[in-house]
Amino acid sequence: MRRKPINKGKFLREVKNYAKKAIVGSHNGGFLSLLGGVGTGKTYLASALANNLIRNGLTVKYQTTNQIIATLTDAKRNYATDVWREINRLTQFDMIIVDEIGTQDPKDNNYLFELVNKYYAAVKPMVLISNFGLKSLEANTGERFVDRMKHNGTVLGLDWDSYRK
Ligand SMILES: Nc1ncnc2c1ncn2[C@@H]1O[C@H](COP(=O)(O)OP(=O)(O)O)[C@@H](O)[C@H]1O
Ligand SMILES: [Mg+2]
Repeated sequence: MRRKPINKGKFLREVKNYAKKAIVGSHNGGFLSLLGGVGTGKTYLASALANNLIRNGLTVKYQTTNQIIATLTDAKRNYATDVWREINRLTQFDMIIVDEIGTQDPKDNNYLFELVNKYYAAVKPMVLISNFGLKSLEANTGERFVDRMKHNGTVLGLDWDSYRK
């Protein structure tokens, strides 16, 4: 059976639309989630989105999930309240990209959730990237996380072959 042609233009339009809303200040609180296999261009697409915002004078932070968790667990080890200071520091940006979600140790899921919650409460744009689909994310990152991801947000499943092949 032949596969349906993949409409990459639709994905690009969604990402551009997300950027435009962030730039003109009409972002409504939803996140942009890019889900799909290794090499499908998730990080590339998010970087293009970041460049667009930066060219328009906004600030953007890029972090892998494990970088965030390392920063926050380190802060916790030093002094409990530092965790909140670090979370606040990570919330200073106009947008944050969190890559490689699902690769973290599930015992640390709460750190990621606190950051997601902060962006959610601040009504700031956030890009969430994972090699996992929604079902697996629910299992390894938590139901609350996936709920936030879907609420009012755009979830794009990049289901074409890897660019690296
Ligand atoms: N639209 C595109 N056109 C050309 N090259 C691309 C495109 N998207 C991704 N690539 C390249 O394909 C490779 C995989 O992309 P990447 O964003 O790292 O994938 P993922 O994050 O989904 O694993 C990278 O070398 C990237 O530069
Ligand atoms: Mg990537």
